[in-house]
Amino acid sequence: MRKKIVAANWKMNMTQAESARFVESMLLDLGDITDVEVVIVPPFTAIAKVMEALGKAQNIKVGGQNMYWEKNGPFTGEISAALLRDLFVHYVVLGHSERRTLFGETDEIVNRKVRAAHEATLRPIVCIGETLQQRDRGNVDKILSIQLRGSLAGLTPKELQETVIAYEPVWAIGTGRNATPAQAQEAHAFIRHTLHQMADETTAERVRIQYGGSVKPENAGELMSQPDIDGALVGGASLDPRSFVQIVKAARDR
Ligand code: 13P
Repeated sequence: MRKKIVAANWKMNMTQAESARFVESMLLDLGDITDVEVVIVPPFTAIAKVMEALGKAQNIKVGGQNMYWEKNGPFTGEISAALLRDLFVHYVVLGHSERRTLFGETDEIVNRKVRAAHEATLRPIVCIGETLQQRDRGNVDKILSIQLRGSLAGLTPKELQETVIAYEPVWAIGTGRNATPAQAQEAHAFIRHTLHQMADETTAERVRIQYGGSVKPENAGELMSQPDIDGALVGGASLDPRSFVQIVKAARDR
């Protein structure tokens, strides 16, 4: 059984004060949750505050939104896996579509980061997904296969099992238009099939695949009851503790 994983990607939002208020409110409901893995992914500037507000709630994990692959050195403005680990961060989101389209990240760049994250025992959440044009042209499988094989090249089966994949169709991000549960399930099943080809069946069965793109309390339950959907990567709806808590509870009830 794969444990569901629900992550809050706050993107470029949330001051320290807002972050602390969010965590305090969330802990009232999720303070002792253990049957769903909950991950908060704040901007770098709020990570320490989130850690402080979490206090002893070690059941809730924290993630970074990006990192650079080098260990240290003259890379002004960048942050390494080791610096994230220094803040007790467990996860890092890599290859988000906003990074790919706005900041020119290719599968090769994402792959370097993924490998550097594993080297530092930081667990990557690797985002992949097609644009609307690619979907309309019938190229979903092709694009997902290229992104998966490129971003995850060279990983051992163990590293693959410690990687989370986030399927985020670009046309569903921040648009209010989520993939239907059937569309998402089809993509997730294809991703698992590709992981089987890349590694082996046990590995493919163990990798958790999140869905992301306009996840809300109203659609979270049906999405996460699909057999290959193992959680959610939530953007907009994760900025409000009440809606985020509802999404986590929807994961628990599946
Ligand atoms: P929204 O939930 O705002 O569509 O964002 C999804 C996303 O990009 C999560 O990483």
